[in-house]
Amino acid sequence: MSSVLKNKLQQKLAERAAQGNLRELKTTTGLADFCSNDYLGLARSERLRALIRQEEENYKQLPLGATGSRLLSGNHGLFEELEASIASYHQGEAALLFNSGYSANVGLLSALPQRGDTVFYDEASHASMKDGLRLSFAKSYSFRHNNVEDLRQKLKRATGQVYVVVESVYSMDGDKAPLRELARLCNEHTAALIVDEAHAVGLYGDKGEGLTVALGLQDQVFAQVITYGKAMGSHGAAVVGPKVLRDFLINYSRAFIYTTGLPTHALVALKCAYTLLPDLREERARVQQLAALLYLKLNKLSGIRCTPEDSVICSVFLQEPQQLKMLAAALQKEGFDVRPVMPPTVPAGTERLRVIVHAYNTEEEMEGLVQVIAKGT
Ligand SMILES: Cc1ncc(COP(=O)(O)O)c(C=O)c1O
Repeated sequence: MSSVLKNKLQQKLAERAAQGNLRELKTTTGLADFCSNDYLGLARSERLRALIRQEEENYKQLPLGATGSRLLSGNHGLFEELEASIASYHQGEAALLFNSGYSANVGLLSALPQRGDTVFYDEASHASMKDGLRLSFAKSYSFRHNNVEDLRQKLKRATGQVYVVVESVYSMDGDKAPLRELARLCNEHTAALIVDEAHAVGLYGDKGEGLTVALGLQDQVFAQVITYGKAMGSHGAAVVGPKVLRDFLINYSRAFIYTTGLPTHALVALKCAYTLLPDLREERARVQQLAALLYLKLNKLSGIRCTPEDSVICSVFLQEPQQLKMLAAALQKEGFDVRPVMPPTVPAGTERLRVIVHAYNTEEEMEGLVQVIAKGT
């Protein structure tokens, strides 16, 4: 590599470091987990591990890796079997697996809206949705976070087929989209509503289907994006929607076509996670109860603001945001894995501690966490 190029890269990193926003990879062990997306504990579940081992025996005839794109050598019966059961679980007509939530959003949003169409997306939408839209030939506009009125105004300037893209539970703020109002508005404008369920799957709905199904909106939502790296403790994602959408994506979605399919062990893990998911009602109830408790405790402290009230993703804003990194370091030192979220991941001025609650967190851990935050603010 030329030294000129290396220097340029160093300079970009130095700019980030000067802003205090340099990203670095860290490994943590032995800390109380208030950071991961393993809401229900499936990623650490011995029951799931044992079930996967047992189920793998039934698929020994399949190759370990998919060996190619699913349009070439990479397809087999387990994909089709799993997709049919995913569609039925989330009450859609069909499902198509992608290699990650990132790929699913990029693959869906870059392919579906066509030139001349209009997409409105919530400004707090995940980077993968924004990246997908950047690759699309359709026009796309953001609307103010969870602001149905702003969307209503913006819909007036739409042309072509209209799409509205939201998350059911927002990854950074932890709040829910007003899905019923959004569905009504989309209906009035014959707009197709697309809902990313990444942070709702496992947690909402009697069987953890996600918020769309929990609210009975499955027939009003055009496509649900279901991701498997969070409460499902695994990896990959599926787009659930009409059969014609599945066929369309198989033909036009480059993130689906030009990549190797998921390996067999990932499919088996998913199948097993879905087997356990309906029965995790106690875990679902516990994580919500712990989240409510954390909200109560944190909002008693002075010098901080914590939102939202009823979410397992809790954002803690400090009156003195410059203390954020120090507080996060103090938490790590005292044994709590909590990370600060800084720009550009969130807009400047909204940096926060992102505290995630899990079914396996204990009341004692939570009390300890609150005490360190109280001391540091
Ligand atoms: C809302 C949302 N969508 C999609 C993704 C991407 O999912 P994955 O981690 O499976 O790529 C994430 C998580 O990073 C997310 O928070």
